Amino acid sequence: MWPSENKKIGFLSIYIVVFVFAVIFIPLIFMQYNNINDTKKITAHRVDYRRLKSEMLQSLDKHFKSDDPKNDKTISSGWNKLFIQYKCCAVHDVNGTTNDFGTTPWCTTSGSCQETASQIPKTCCKDVTLTNYSSAPSPCHASVHPGTYNPGCFELVKLLSVANVEPCQVIMLFSLCPSWQYYRYWTLSLQ
Ligand SMILES: *[C@@H]1O[C@H](CO)[C@@H](O)[C@H](O)[C@H]1NC(C)=O
Ligand SMILES: *[C@@H]1O[C@H](CO)[C@@H](O)[C@H](O)[C@H]1NC(C)=O
Repeated sequence: MWPSENKKIGFLSIYIVVFVFAVIFIPLIFMQYNNINDTKKITAHRVDYRRLKSEMLQSLDKHFKSDDPKNDKTISSGWNKLFIQYKCCAVHDVNGTTNDFGTTPWCTTSGSCQETASQIPKTCCKDVTLTNYSSAPSPCHASVHPGTYNPGCFELVKLLSVANVEPCQVIMLFSLCPSWQYYRYWTLSLQ
């Protein structure tokens, strides 16, 4: 294309352009990438814990209907799976018969709490699994004996929200996120 002398200059210019590109733009691309990571970190730490707790309480209060972690994608089942998988119970620590479950449909409308057969869900009892929770010992669920069931879930969800989980995924359950994300969250973490 070029006469030989011009050819050398031509190649030299191409080298210079590539070199300048590499020196200037590649670091810029990395800086951009780090900025994205920083933004994510900041968002993850900026979970509003007061709001998170109140969303959790509202979700339990409105949706907890049964202590059966049925194989469906209702919020009630999700809570039971959370209790079993993360070895926790309710939102606050359960200290007595007055606890977070008192005003849920499970206690007020239907369910073994409303029938007074249980005070806390069987899924809250220590060492139960998805397959054997229904034979949880009655001293654990029929009355409230601290030490026989797991601590509240709030502190744990708070930790999860710091450890790399997108706030929306944590808060999801608590209905701040579109429902498809809610399902995705449970599908990923609770099966
Ligand atoms: C349960 O007891 C703990 C420690 O004794 C206390 O910090 C907490 O506030 C109590 N929770 C409720 C819901 O009463
Ligand atoms: C449920 O299964 C687990 C693991 O196999 C066991 O440790 C636990 O004691 C069982 N609980 C009940 C109530 O049967």
